[in-house]
This record gives sequence, structure tokens and C-alpha cells, in this order.
Amino acid sequence: MTDVQTRPDTDLTGTGEQPAGNAAATSRRVVLVGAGALGAGCLLAACGTDSSTSSSTTGANGGDFSNDPAPAGSSTAGPKGGGDSSGGGATLVAVADVPEGGGVIKGDYVITQPEAGTYKAFSKICTHQGCPVNKVENGQIKCPCHASTFSIEDGSPTGGPATKALAETKVKVDGDNVVSA
Ligand code: FES
Repeated sequence: MTDVQTRPDTDLTGTGEQPAGNAAATSRRVVLVGAGALGAGCLLAACGTDSSTSSSTTGANGGDFSNDPAPAGSSTAGPKGGGDSSGGGATLVAVADVPEGGGVIKGDYVITQPEAGTYKAFSKICTHQGCPVNKVENGQIKCPCHASTFSIEDGSPTGGPATKALAETKVKVDGDNVVSA
């Protein structure tokens, strides 16, 4: 704005009129108004740029643990098929399908046989961050997500980041089946 045009012969209004004494003042006014409008335009543009860059950081770390499952065994511990918490009796697996010294994952449960004729059942939901365990191997129940391992005897953690035991469901043998007690 320092180089304001003051030549009286410049017709910035486009009217062709050149009042003798007011030409310089008119030219100056036109230039200043134009500069003011330009400044306002820059201000608006700058505001737009600022708001678009500052609003992009919302919620950067918000979602990591939002999908934590319900604690294992809290409300989902009942066997499938009805009769969950009242009397048991729901079939979890055939006795013949549970290897001695190992176990099997069926439905929502890990059913194990740590000793001949002794059956246990645990929630298959890992107590670390809720992944379903996916393997029973070498006397261990294994979670694939962060390598936690659990005992087939009592579901207690034996390795990895998990610190709580898998939720246990009481079971019994009924005929050829392991059923909830
Ligand atoms: S969720 Fe199972 S080890 Fe992390």
C-alpha cells in the first residue's frame, strides 16, 4: 500500500470524469478501498486455511481400545442352547472329542481333559484384550493375538501379557457328552 497512485490524469473510476481538484483524492480512495478489500479477502482465506489444518487432528488415538469385549465369563459364561445359568445341562462337546492331556475349542468354550476322566471348560475369550483363543497345544491354551498362554488345568495364565485366568464354566459328564453342570 505504499505505492499509491496519485497521478491526476489516471481514471480509475472508469467514468471519464476528471474533476480538477479531486482527481488525486479520488484515485487514492479507490486504491485504498481496493487494498482494504484485498486485505479482508486474505484474512478470510487465512482463516479458512487455519481451520482446515487445525481440525484434522481430532480423535487421533481415540479408538484403540474402544472395542474391548465384556470381561470373559461375566455375562456370556453360560453355554449356548438355553438353560445357561439356571441348571446347566447344555451339551458342550462329546467326551470322545476331548483329547486326554489336551483340549478342543468348540462354540464359545475351550473344553479340556487335563487328566483322564477330568473335564474342564473355559471361556475362549482371552483375558488380555479379548481375542478368541485358537489352539490347545502341549498342555497350553493359546491366544494368537499376543501369544498369551493358559493352563488346561485351571485356565490360569502361563505366558504372554494376559494376567487373569480364562473364565471357567463348571461341567460334568452326562453319558457321552461333557455338559454344563
Ligand atoms: S488378546 Fe490374547 S494375548 Fe492379547
